[in-house]
Amino acid sequence: MITVLVTGGAGFIGTNFVYFLRKNRPDWQVINLDLLTYAGNLENLAELQGDPGHIFVQGDVAHRGLLDSLFVRHAITRVVHFAAETHVDRSILDPAAFVRTNVLGTFNLLEATRQAWKQVPEQSGARFLHVSTDEVYGSLNFQDPPVTEDAPYAPSSPYAASKAAADWLVRSYFRTYGMPILITNCSNNYGPFQFPEKLIPFSLSQALEGKPIPIYGQGANVRDWLFVEDHCRAVLTVLEEGQCGETYNIGGRHEQPNLELVGLLLAALQELRPDLGDLKRLITFVPDRPGHDQRYALDTGKIEQALGWRPQVSLAEGLRRTVSWYLSHAEWLSRLRSGAYRAYLRQQYGEIVL
Ligand code: NAD
Ligand code: DAU
Repeated sequence: MITVLVTGGAGFIGTNFVYFLRKNRPDWQVINLDLLTYAGNLENLAELQGDPGHIFVQGDVAHRGLLDSLFVRHAITRVVHFAAETHVDRSILDPAAFVRTNVLGTFNLLEATRQAWKQVPEQSGARFLHVSTDEVYGSLNFQDPPVTEDAPYAPSSPYAASKAAADWLVRSYFRTYGMPILITNCSNNYGPFQFPEKLIPFSLSQALEGKPIPIYGQGANVRDWLFVEDHCRAVLTVLEEGQCGETYNIGGRHEQPNLELVGLLLAALQELRPDLGDLKRLITFVPDRPGHDQRYALDTGKIEQALGWRPQVSLAEGLRRTVSWYLSHAEWLSRLRSGAYRAYLRQQYGEIVL
């Protein structure tokens, strides 16, 4: 039996990954370590209650003693590290937590793993996969070619810089200690369970309440969108078949300027909820994000050629599936959109979005 430590498994991608693993690797034991920050939600994991293949532990990836005890208690031979502070706008408002969790947390997890795996025989196939982002490569111009894994790092926001720092630490553990690490750098994810602060679920939830949808600048910034299930499949593929010490870009091949993406999202919502009327009227241009990266675009030739992975869900299908998931989880959404969330919105956007 393989025991995998998944960090951040009560957040957006982590939740999807844990369900993906339980379905596709039912004989694996999942230890799910999550601090349950504002972005983590135990309710996401309700369907796993009573499942002996999933053990949830509330705790901090920066807490070395806790990590050591998990390695002593469980025969962990795979680590998939999602836990992070992830929202660029919050990193601009208050970067400290990003350095603590993304840099120090990753460092502590690397150290605990390195110590524990001194005892693990090579044939156990031990592997540590660090989940990172396309933002480490920095901003591209509209005419630039997509970046490969060899592109220099040029992070813009405190979030991106903290992820870049973590990536380099992870790489150093391969070079220095020969630790079996892998890194994935992925583009923008969307799908079920995404916290409603990110562009897609935020626009969707504002539209459902007939409230303004803020678009930064002119809405011309380009992101590459990937349905979260495709990301989960890529992470498992790299974990099982990737070459240790290597980095793999994961992208959706669906570049869209923000304004057009929100247009597609609202059209998908309108199809299922025609009663909401003309939703484009809600689009409201607001001052730009400081240091806003113009475009991200990844060359995904390496993972496609070396491991045979490709995205399978089109943007149209992914948006349809996302909209219908949010429509059928109205209570989940309304619980998240109260309390501290409203204070965050006020701080980030002012009164206009409330
Ligand atoms: P998220 O914000 O939805 O979830 C993060 C999770 O980490 C939460 O459950 C939170 O409680 C947990 N967490 C935060 N600090 C912690 C700590 N100190 N100890 C333990 N747990 C902690 O994030 P997400 O969007 O699911 O992203 C997951 C990972 O994927 C991150 O590393 C992120 O950088 C990376 N990533 C995300 C995207 C995207 O589009 N969302 C794209 C590429 C890469
Ligand atoms: O590229 C991968 C990254 O994607 C991940 O590493 C991050 O964790 C994740 O948060 C995401 O970062 P972005 O900054 O690209 O995502 P966000 O949803 O915040 O914004 C997407 C685009 O939409 C971006 O150009 C900013 C813009 N935007 C966002 C919000 C929240 C708006 O115009 N208005 C908004 O209100």
